[in-house]
Amino acid sequence: MITTKVTGSTIPTLTTDRLLLRPLANGDVPGFVEIWSDPEFTRHIGGWHDPDGVWHAMAANIGCWALTGVGPWAVVERPTGDLVGRAGLWTEPGWPGIEVVWFLRRDRWGRGYAREAAAAAIDWVLAERPDLTEIVSVILPANIASVRVARRLGMTRTRLQALHGAEHAVYAISRADWSVARTRLSPRGTDR
Ligand SMILES: CC(C)(COP(=O)(O)OP(=O)(O)OC[C@H]1O[C@@H](n2cnc3c(N)ncnc32)[C@H](O)[C@@H]1OP(=O)(O)O)[C@@H](O)C(=O)NCCC(=O)NCCS
Repeated sequence: MITTKVTGSTIPTLTTDRLLLRPLANGDVPGFVEIWSDPEFTRHIGGWHDPDGVWHAMAANIGCWALTGVGPWAVVERPTGDLVGRAGLWTEPGWPGIEVVWFLRRDRWGRGYAREAAAAAIDWVLAERPDLTEIVSVILPANIASVRVARRLGMTRTRLQALHGAEHAVYAISRADWSVARTRLSPRGTDR
């Protein structure tokens, strides 16, 4: 019998001060369904996702790892073991580059978790891909919290670009600028 290994990449697990970034698992479905059912959470990311949509998004996330070697992780809060979101990397055909992404459940907003997870993901991908010159983030301009995360990471708005049928702001940071911006963040990704 001929067998084919379908996953083209190994997904690492990253540990930060307060978070664990680990591969998405089938057992995460109920947790993500709950997070994505909050209308405030989905306000700037396409609105409410039904459980089917959440599962398909998870499959696409795993597929992103398999096809491109980068992708998002499930974010677990280390002190509680709770699944608190999804964050990491994303790219697809026509995308402005390797994107850093962040999605945190509402009751964990405002704790710096997004930038803690993002900083770990950026560190990982820049070490993994020596050829990569910049990291981007694609954000709807009205998504103020997300814009603030990007700015806090040292990213700057470079242009507007139509993606998935809507005008998005593209934020970016170069490898060189990240090495400077990183020193202003503690290991956990929050400000010193
Ligand atoms: C965007 C998001 C990940 C931010 O998460 P977070 O853990 O609160 O982010 P942080 O604590 O690292 O930083 C949040 C920054 O935004 C600010 N912020 C948080 N919630 C905010 C809100 N509702 N309105 C305005 N600013 C907000 C914080 O004050 C902080 O700003 P500062 O660094 O200038 O002090 C979270 O709001 C989220 O998951 N939103 C829904 C999903 C989403 O839109 N993802 C982004 C897609 S581009």
